[in-house]
Amino acid sequence: MTRYKREDPEITRRKFINTAFGASATVGGLALVSALGGVNPVFRLTRDKMPPAPGDLLIHAEGAKAGQPLAAADLSEKVTRAWPQGKDKDGNPLTRSGDPNNILTVFKFPAGQIVAPTNMEATINGEIVAYSDICTHAGCSVADDSLNPGRMNCPCHSGQYDPKQGCKVVGGPPPRPLAQLPIKMDGDKLVVGGFFLSNPYPFTESEWEERKKAVEAALS
Ligand code: FES
Repeated sequence: MTRYKREDPEITRRKFINTAFGASATVGGLALVSALGGVNPVFRLTRDKMPPAPGDLLIHAEGAKAGQPLAAADLSEKVTRAWPQGKDKDGNPLTRSGDPNNILTVFKFPAGQIVAPTNMEATINGEIVAYSDICTHAGCSVADDSLNPGRMNCPCHSGQYDPKQGCKVVGGPPPRPLAQLPIKMDGDKLVVGGFFLSNPYPFTESEWEERKKAVEAALS
């Protein structure tokens, strides 16, 4: 896999985002964006790069509804990609797409199908669940598994996850599950209920704890 040097992470990321999202945000494009976003630069913690934070609105990341709020009716047993949308210092909507690793996936399964080790309190009615869409192996965007409906497959090295079981790893090289994101309803819109419950790619556990504190301090 292509690895980018750490010397100029801002230039690399910005060129990349502009290229990928200037064109249509295809699944392949997102995979590539995320793979290159896998290098963990020491970047400025601007609001557009902060990870999903409590109260953020979930908006469609691709397709005809790109930029529109996610509604429960939009969801299915297939990957629906979303960005978290917070607010800038003036209270205006600000999508946190400045870090490609912030891309999310949201599912809706029939009642009773989502089971442990999913954190059920972080789901909506045990039917709607959200995760980081970035593979914990090397940072590619994870897609639907065409051979195993209801599961996810990473296009880079065939990592497999089960979104009905906390996105635990069911195949391939990923070292840990995709991080689950607490979500809840606010009227008819889906919003973030809390920070990722475990360290998302590319953070270690300790790095993630530090990042959460930094975001809380910046937004308080
Ligand atoms: S990046 Fe997903 S399996 Fe390697």
